[in-house]
Amino acid sequence: MTLKNKSNCILSVCFVALSVLFLNTVLCDEPSKLQRKLTATLNPGCGDLCENNAAITLMHIAATSDTDTIHYVWDFTGKPTILVALTSKQTEFHINWKELMRREPGSVRFTDAPQYTFMAIINRIFQYNDADDRAMLDEGTNAFVYDPHNFTWNRSLLWSNEEDVMMAINAGDDFLFKLNAYSTKDHGLDFPHLLHTSNSTQIDIVFNNITNRFVNPRFAIELLFVVSEQAVVGSEFEVTKRKTLDDEHTPGIFEIVDVLSPGAFTFSAGGYIEYRPVSYTHPERDVATSTETRQSQPVSIQSPSAVLQTTLAYALYGTKLDSFLVQGMNVSFGVSEDGFYRKTNYTTMTFQVGYGMPPNEELSAFVLLVAGIGIGIPLVVLIVSTIYICARKLRNRDRFQQQRL
Ligand SMILES: *[C@@H]1O[C@H](CO)[C@@H](O)[C@H](O)[C@H]1NC(C)=O
Ligand SMILES: *[C@@H]1O[C@H](CO)[C@@H](O)[C@H](O)[C@H]1NC(C)=O
Ligand SMILES: *[C@@H]1O[C@H](CO)[C@@H](O)[C@H](O)[C@H]1NC(C)=O
Ligand SMILES: *[C@@H]1O[C@H](CO)[C@@H](O)[C@H](O)[C@H]1NC(C)=O
Ligand SMILES: *[C@@H]1O[C@H](CO)[C@@H](O)[C@H](O)[C@H]1NC(C)=O
Ligand SMILES: *[C@@H]1O[C@H](CO)[C@@H](O)[C@H](O)[C@H]1NC(C)=O
Repeated sequence: MTLKNKSNCILSVCFVALSVLFLNTVLCDEPSKLQRKLTATLNPGCGDLCENNAAITLMHIAATSDTDTIHYVWDFTGKPTILVALTSKQTEFHINWKELMRREPGSVRFTDAPQYTFMAIINRIFQYNDADDRAMLDEGTNAFVYDPHNFTWNRSLLWSNEEDVMMAINAGDDFLFKLNAYSTKDHGLDFPHLLHTSNSTQIDIVFNNITNRFVNPRFAIELLFVVSEQAVVGSEFEVTKRKTLDDEHTPGIFEIVDVLSPGAFTFSAGGYIEYRPVSYTHPERDVATSTETRQSQPVSIQSPSAVLQTTLAYALYGTKLDSFLVQGMNVSFGVSEDGFYRKTNYTTMTFQVGYGMPPNEELSAFVLLVAGIGIGIPLVVLIVSTIYICARKLRNRDRFQQQRL
């Protein structure tokens, strides 16, 4: 009888103690440390061809960990392309520049075949007339198409060290791009403060003061995704929406959109695009100057090697592209009744391209403090009172038994 009671008490104390431990591990995460070392090279191996030519921009970043290297390439020599490639640690990236300028297959290569590659391509930009204020780019909508292959690029900023790489590049004053690569897990500096890791690179685009071509203009962007996963029937990119617990980092926005390759959502080993469905309509980004974004369902691209002729994807893979999974989707900026693009002539998009799985938002110190007070105090009271009651019961029982003896 006594033994049973004792073990009951011990059990309940153990249970409470375990809960505390569990909460601790859930709520407290070790601070972010350097995950990869970055080495950035502008136009690697280009030499004379790129001297005094600010229009040629191909940025290569090797992000090296203890075991492997993730290569990021920001290519603006053709249609803007972001390459993420996972390779062995020693693998190098080589370019034959004369051949690349002719977009010859094999003009860019890795010294060892990558374990995985993922490319995101900005294929087209649309300015369309949103006659019914639906904020959707439908087939047949009256639209003006910008081919980013024809843009004249002007690099305005380049900055790199082992921990961060940043580049700003513009097409006239119309399309302003900002790209980042990182060595640690953290939130981005600017709104929407996306959470990045060393496995991802960030692209921020501003549609700045672009001449309106329609009465009710809106913008949309067509993104194409190329993964080194075989195209098989039923394999498709998947758009998932995650809810976050708090909107501390992106006020007003509780949602994260993930576009995952089949490899990413089945084995956590694939390519992904991630963004918050928010677009800012003023250089001073804030919840008051924001609107929404909408994406279409990813669809397969027919004869990829023909469509991708003017991209890094073709320079790397050539006609092999036709066996790869290549899909695309449109992202449109704005929401009904937000006044269209013409209201401010400014709109933005920020997204991440990465390998593996998009990182989970963790609770911040402030939320932890609040949660800590809310959960911690009742827990402490619970433990103390459990121990107290148990101890008293046991003591009473012991005394009672002693009296009987
Ligand atoms: C994007 O929208 C345009 C215009 O409606 C359409 O022709 C194109 O097929 C769309 N792209 C994708 C990948 O859905
Ligand atoms: C833009 O580039 C495409 C090829 O990508 C070409 O067919 C077209 O003529 C170019 N348009 C302009 C206005 O230069
Ligand atoms: C490129 O941008 C810089 C400033 O960002 C500007 O001074 C320069 O005139 C631009 N060059 C061209 C060709 O547009
Ligand atoms: C926007 O462009 C127009 C010309 O199209 C120019 O007059 C105006 O100053 C520009 N506004 C800003 C804020 O850059
Ligand atoms: C946006 O640009 C158009 C011309 O392209 C101009 O008519 C309109 O007034 C501009 N809107 C604002 C808010 O500046
Ligand atoms: C980051 O990439 C490495 C490969 O080097 C992979 O093992 C890891 O799972 C990735 N991290 C995430 C969060 O997906």
